[in-house]
Amino acid sequence: MLSGKPTILVTGGAGYIGSHTVLALKQAGYNVIILDNLVYGHRDLVEKVLQVELIVGDTSDRPLLDQLFKTHDIAAVMHFSAYAYVGESVTDPAKYYRNNVLGTLTLLEAMLTASVNKFVFSSTCATYGVPEFVPIPETHPQNPINPYGATKLMVERILTDFDVAYDLKSVRFRYFNAAGANPDGLLGEDHNPETHLIPLVLMTALGKRESISIFGTDYPTPDGTCIRDYIHVNDLADAHILGLEYLLEGGDSEVFNLGNGSGFSVREVIAAAEAVTKATIKVEERDRRPGDPPILIGTSEQARTILGWQPQYPSIKDIVAHAWQWHQQRHK
Ligand SMILES: NC(=O)c1ccc[n+]([C@@H]2O[C@H](COP(=O)([O-])OP(=O)(O)OC[C@H]3O[C@@H](n4cnc5c(N)ncnc54)[C@H](O)[C@@H]3O)[C@@H](O)[C@H]2O)c1
Repeated sequence: MLSGKPTILVTGGAGYIGSHTVLALKQAGYNVIILDNLVYGHRDLVEKVLQVELIVGDTSDRPLLDQLFKTHDIAAVMHFSAYAYVGESVTDPAKYYRNNVLGTLTLLEAMLTASVNKFVFSSTCATYGVPEFVPIPETHPQNPINPYGATKLMVERILTDFDVAYDLKSVRFRYFNAAGANPDGLLGEDHNPETHLIPLVLMTALGKRESISIFGTDYPTPDGTCIRDYIHVNDLADAHILGLEYLLEGGDSEVFNLGNGSGFSVREVIAAAEAVTKATIKVEERDRRPGDPPILIGTSEQARTILGWQPQYPSIKDIVAHAWQWHQQRHK
């Protein structure tokens, strides 16, 4: 049954952040269509939990996109799909420029042809590179230090130019570290391979991994380990609804950091996981990794002021507890 609200196309909606946002869109009454090539997405979650139309296809498939825009009355696009492994982007940059830049360009051109001019984009704090100062505001220089961050910055540039030339209005969200899971246990993070700290720590607590590595214990931080800004995935989803509605109401193109505004060290995350899981988590202390800044924290004042965004789950304990609930059932 169609509701009175418009239809939103969500690319990458079968992935981690996309799926949480699709659920939030549905709960807010929007009609949703997912386009996902399922390279990393999860069909079972779309079918069992999200229960929206899933088109299995690629953002670089222009005929498919033209058909999709012809047969559906789409008001806006939320673009989550991308490859996001920093290390792989260094060893195989072509894969990243092709998917993240060319795939996005193809999608944007199809949108222009179909006269769809509202776009919500998943950018990243990786576009800032090594911060010159923290907390990082949106005005901080963008000097990415890996191809992944460079692909996202290129899309940001494309969006700026497309606004001037074609009146394509976009909201760019630069996420810090997405973490946590749906508090009802319906959805969560299931990357394969997994590179993010919280799921790796929880897989260790579950006995699926031997130990967790800490890369660097001599950083200029209170406990010597790196500090990152973890933002609950449901808070990201809420921001996307607000960003979408801002555009639907005629808002101008804008860029927003999405972070908690405070950070947690690797040791603090592990301690929170031990408190939540009641497990002892084996730690291996290793050398620093090149390119890891000591502290990455963003200011999200702009999202709070312009969009009225207010994170609901700033506590690391809540973030870890929700993720733990999810991991226990997903890896039974
Ligand atoms: N997870 C984070 O902490 C984080 C931080 C900053 C930015 N981001 C960005 O947020 C977005 C979502 O991240 P995620 O963690 O949910 O990743 P994810 O891998 O879980 O989701 C991405 C989805 O896109 C799909 N996909 C990839 N390329 C596609 C293509 N060409 N056509 C159709 N579908 C395609 C995948 O199958 C997957 O379902 C990405 O753009 C990522 O760069 C994520």
